[in-house]
Amino acid sequence: MKFSMIIVLSSTLLFSCTPLAYAQKVASPPAPTPTPSPAPAPSPPYVNLTDLLSVAGPFHNFLNYLESTKVIDTFQNQANNTDEGITIFVPKDDAFKNLKKASLSNLTQDQLKQLILFHALPHYYSLSDFKNLSHVSPVSTFAGAGGYALNFTDTSGTVHLDSGWSKTKVSSSVHSTDPVAIYQVDKVLLPEAIFGTDIPPTPAPAPAPDTSPTADSPTSDDSAGAGSAPGKSPPNSSYRINGVGIWSQLVLAIAGVLVLFL
Ligand SMILES: *[C@@H]1O[C@H](CO)[C@@H](O)[C@H](O)[C@H]1NC(C)=O
Ligand SMILES: *[C@@H]1O[C@H](CO)[C@@H](O)[C@H](O)[C@H]1NC(C)=O
Ligand SMILES: *[C@@H]1O[C@H](CO)[C@@H](O)[C@H](O)[C@H]1NC(C)=O
Ligand SMILES: *[C@@H]1O[C@H](CO)[C@@H](O)[C@H](O)[C@H]1NC(C)=O
Ligand SMILES: *[C@@H]1O[C@H](CO)[C@@H](O)[C@H](O)[C@H]1NC(C)=O
Ligand SMILES: *[C@@H]1O[C@H](CO)[C@@H](O)[C@H](O)[C@H]1NC(C)=O
Repeated sequence: MKFSMIIVLSSTLLFSCTPLAYAQKVASPPAPTPTPSPAPAPSPPYVNLTDLLSVAGPFHNFLNYLESTKVIDTFQNQANNTDEGITIFVPKDDAFKNLKKASLSNLTQDQLKQLILFHALPHYYSLSDFKNLSHVSPVSTFAGAGGYALNFTDTSGTVHLDSGWSKTKVSSSVHSTDPVAIYQVDKVLLPEAIFGTDIPPTPAPAPAPDTSPTADSPTSDDSAGAGSAPGKSPPNSSYRINGVGIWSQLVLAIAGVLVLFL
């Protein structure tokens, strides 16, 4: 009696532990197919710029300047209430670290406001629109024309910006839905109208020694760009192939161990 019970028990236990039984158990209850929830109501066209910039980036420095100069209201108003829309170029926090301290701290509040306005165009541009814009350079910004204009060039899909002092590029698109475009740029844009046209000649591409610029001038930001470029290059293909190799070897090893046990 007892003995046969044990056999039955242990055999059911054994059976329930076999992969087959396990698979059956898992597979048996037909998973309830999730009924597609009704599509959310179309969100209102309102884009909260503060909200957007505080979660992306990090763009804390730029956002702080936007708020302290109240330019955020100008931009938000343009986004809310115009058909033209707005395009904003937002430097990452790193870009502010790479600036010479004096270049922003010595500005008057009015100049600072102009500098922040200089980071936007009073019109919505998708990335593909810049190919066209490169033919009409210089382009007036929110801060104005002349010394507050930016030149754009499109080289095989990469949008480059040039303010004279700052040569940089759009490094990613944060948001681009008419009427609001927000693009990340690698550098703070310094306008000639504030920093003058006496721009130190950019040294020919000699990336190695980071020649520090002279006393009072804002960092001629090409040196920083050249320095940071290699780090941004995508991992090269032989590295990736090595990675695949390691994984396939791991899989083979595990398979070998399994075979030993079976
Ligand atoms: C926009 O977003 C900010 C930050 O999330 C929030 O404090 C503010 O209330 C929002 N403004 C509106 C009008 O919703
Ligand atoms: C923009 O629109 C939002 C939502 O309608 C509103 O709360 C906010 O005050 C507006 N801001 C400006 C500057 O017009
Ligand atoms: C810039 O500001 C610093 C103090 O923050 C001051 O020592 C320096 O003289 C100022 N330079 C100019 C050109 O105003
Ligand atoms: C730019 O686009 C407009 C229409 O959107 C077109 O009329 C104009 O010819 C274009 N300019 C160039 C230089 O391609
Ligand atoms: C922008 O382009 C115009 C016309 O091609 C040129 O005269 C000007 O020097 C350029 N400005 C900068 C900052 O490169
Ligand atoms: C890719 O990386 C390997 C070493 O990981 C290096 O030997 C090779 O030169 C690199 N190739 C390129 C194109 O950078």
